[in-house]
Amino acid sequence: MFENKHVLIAGGTSGINLGIAKGFAAAGAKVSVFSRKQDKVDAAVAALSELGPQAHGGIADVREPEQVKATIAAAAAAQGPIDVLVSGAAGNFLAPAVTMSPNAFGSVVGIDLNGTFHVLRFAFEHLTKPGASIINISAPQAWVPMVAQAHVCAAKAGIDMLTKTLAMEWGPAGVRVNSLVPGPIEGTEGMDRLLVDKSRKAALAKTVPLGRLGQVEDCADVAMFLASDAARYVSGVVLPVDGGWSLGGATIAMGHMMGG
Ligand code: NAP
Ligand code: COA
Repeated sequence: MFENKHVLIAGGTSGINLGIAKGFAAAGAKVSVFSRKQDKVDAAVAALSELGPQAHGGIADVREPEQVKATIAAAAAAQGPIDVLVSGAAGNFLAPAVTMSPNAFGSVVGIDLNGTFHVLRFAFEHLTKPGASIINISAPQAWVPMVAQAHVCAAKAGIDMLTKTLAMEWGPAGVRVNSLVPGPIEGTEGMDRLLVDKSRKAALAKTVPLGRLGQVEDCADVAMFLASDAARYVSGVVLPVDGGWSLGGATIAMGHMMGG
């Protein structure tokens, strides 16, 4: 389905983003990933090479514009113009605002929000135009306020407004921009950091209307839909992949997550 397409995934070396990368590779795409740690990049490229035609890896901290610019240019030189761009690098930890240092707040906003701007800004010149699809990875925190998540709530809300703003600015160039919003996804770093008391996993699953935690494949399938021709008239959308969790369960779940 994605043969001869180049899919670039910022932060694509673990968890949900790697699951998305694997989905595209298995569907025939040339996949490029980058993040900060060489060992994670090497492992991801090895796994993606087993699944798809060719994979490429790079190193960059999304907070550093020059690193992002150079790494994206290298990926485009190696694998061609970018047909699908996924921006998913993120950081998270539980911290009440009153104890959070300015650097702690700034590091998450710097990775999630500023990083997304850097990735989109420096990928634009390498995008296939018309036709490219951009998918920003957001979170329910963008519109569901959660205690001890002020940094993430602010950053992800900003990402969704970037999605909508750039869908307007870049639509005339034939570039679609959407947000994909994972719910509580099992077996991921993000879930591990938020679910303090692991014995509450079953109780957490009950806060999801569909009655189960998500899998990375649930996100990969929707990312491929958003990138496909089936979604050719979809832009500026914030699309939850959360079994209905953000309709109300996400607020209830915070008690389970924080062990309260
Ligand atoms: P994860 O495995 O920790 O994925 C984060 C990725 O970003 C890693 O590849 C990491 O690699 C990279 N990264 C982190 N900081 C970076 C930086 N400064 N520059 C470049 N790359 C960086 O976490 P995950 O739980 O799968 O989350 C993936 C995405 O889904 C995130 O956007 C997250 O907010 C979102 N999400 C997750 C959940 C969930 O249930 N897990 C729910 C809602 C939303 P390096 O360490 O090598 O840099
Ligand atoms: N509670 C409160 N503050 C914390 C914290 C916590 N659990 N963890 C880190 N911080 C603070 C640090 O103390 C530091 O602030 P300070 O300089 O005022 O002391 C600031 O956050 C930056 O921490 P540092 O470890 O230097 O940042 P980093 O740039 O190396 O890493 C993080 C960024 C903190 C987000 C790190 O957790 C990370 O790399 N996360 C990526 C993986 C991840 O979070 N995955 C889940 C995605 S949903």
